[in-house]
Amino acid sequence: MAMFTLAHLSDPHLPPLPKPRLIELAGKRALGYVNWTRNRHKYQRREVLDALVADIQAQAPDHVAVTGDLVNLALEAEFAPALAWLEGVGPPDRVTAIPGNHDAYVRATRHHFGEIFATYFAGDDGDIAGFPAVRRRGPAALISLSTAVPTPPLMATGTLGRDQLAALTQVLERLANEDVFRILLVHHPLKSNSRHKRLTDSAALLALIKQHGVELILHGHDHMHSTMWFEGPNGDIPAVGVPSASALAHGRYPAAAYNLFAIERDIAGWRCEQTVRSLDHGLEIRQIKQVRLV
Ligand SMILES: [Fe+2]
Ligand SMILES: [Fe+2]
Repeated sequence: MAMFTLAHLSDPHLPPLPKPRLIELAGKRALGYVNWTRNRHKYQRREVLDALVADIQAQAPDHVAVTGDLVNLALEAEFAPALAWLEGVGPPDRVTAIPGNHDAYVRATRHHFGEIFATYFAGDDGDIAGFPAVRRRGPAALISLSTAVPTPPLMATGTLGRDQLAALTQVLERLANEDVFRILLVHHPLKSNSRHKRLTDSAALLALIKQHGVELILHGHDHMHSTMWFEGPNGDIPAVGVPSASALAHGRYPAAAYNLFAIERDIAGWRCEQTVRSLDHGLEIRQIKQVRLV
């Protein structure tokens, strides 16, 4: 079987932020807007994101996964530019995008992601009703989840909810009988030290993974390089997080990066190698790490 390559980027937080209408700044967005104008605009840079995407395209992966936080305050005016950007990354059959908490920042626009990006996560069955959604690409089965729910100010938690977990159980039961490399796409990490940034029902998800297994978990949200291992039915499963795709290094946060996963089957089983490519001096993108995960 030929090698399959998947690029994973996350949290583009597409800059620049359009000017909000006054009415849009009520409630949670007010704080977010102050944070953007004081801090985030300095670190989330469109030229960085463009350099990263150009490098991904030069690598010509078979598929690209974008694990959420495409926008910032989920303003009406943010969604059209975000879709245009995603279309620049690639067509819906080559790119899978899931929502993050910033894509459902407030109640008023919480359904926008599902409507506007539907073709970018819709499962192979053509069902665009929601999550989980399953897409098969080469030897891989991409399982998309949504943890995006509006939360009170200063909170950035995520929740899958009972219905999605029940549907995911069925998906995992079905896939367990098939010879596919299962990749779970989820915005929030499955373990967090932060109460206000955590996935509230991660315990239920971890239990499902422990029982049914997947081969790889990809997430964003923390804006950090991260590899965690979680218990599966046949050994530990790697969960890999990436920095924000538009970020300049700042404070404890690293510069923008993405991961390339090369997946293939050999006689002994699955092989999955991770290559990390990161923003270096100026807008240069370089390989900074290569490691065999599986
Ligand atoms: Fe984010
Ligand atoms: Fe997030």
